[in-house]
Amino acid sequence: MTTNLPRVAVLASGRGSNLAALIAARDRGELPVEFVLVGSDKAGAGALRLAEDAGIPTLALDPRSFPNRLAFDLALFEHIAASGAEWLVLAGYMRIVDGAALAPWVGRMINIHPSLLPKYRGLHTHRRALEAGDREHGASVHFVTAELDGGPVIAQARIPVHPDDDEGQLAQRLLPLEHRLLPAVLGLLTSRRLQWHAGSPQLDERPLRAPLRLGPQGLVPAE
Ligand code: GRF
Repeated sequence: MTTNLPRVAVLASGRGSNLAALIAARDRGELPVEFVLVGSDKAGAGALRLAEDAGIPTLALDPRSFPNRLAFDLALFEHIAASGAEWLVLAGYMRIVDGAALAPWVGRMINIHPSLLPKYRGLHTHRRALEAGDREHGASVHFVTAELDGGPVIAQARIPVHPDDDEGQLAQRLLPLEHRLLPAVLGLLTSRRLQWHAGSPQLDERPLRAPLRLGPQGLVPAE
């Protein structure tokens, strides 16, 4: 801990493009935070290499060296607490987190999910949107609770689905919006404009009645 900035830890299992977007936003001066830890359940995750390159401490814990999910999650969250993190971002973290382990973080922990929640919790969201014939798809950032992808939604980015879209095209068109959505929400949270209040998001001390939308200039209230 070297600054007085809000301290953020990030968990990621994959290539880490959302982590890269967070770091880039910080580097542009748009997200005044200190990243104190990037953790992963996969030692080979690209996200860990990105963090190393950015000089952020990293942690890889292998779930197979723990007797069960709770033991793994408690160890992981102990490391996160020891990093001094005040806020926690799941950026492509592909494990379900035990409810008891995450309880102390409720209200301080967000996740990005590639669907317009409450639609399509869990995996294969692009495929499921196509199979359902949806004309609109998107990504959501929500507070994490014990319910998988079920915590209160804070903000969403939307894209149209084209008739000839396949899964890959949808994912590719959505990703740049995810990369704007996640830093924008984290900025609201770490500046404390966004707060968890009795189980619901509040923005500027008013209940958020509908998820914010990502527009060309950033997050705006839903119409
Ligand atoms: C993103 O689509 C995110 O919404 C989902 O997993 C993907 C992670 O991509 N939860 P990356 O590792 O950040 O590139």
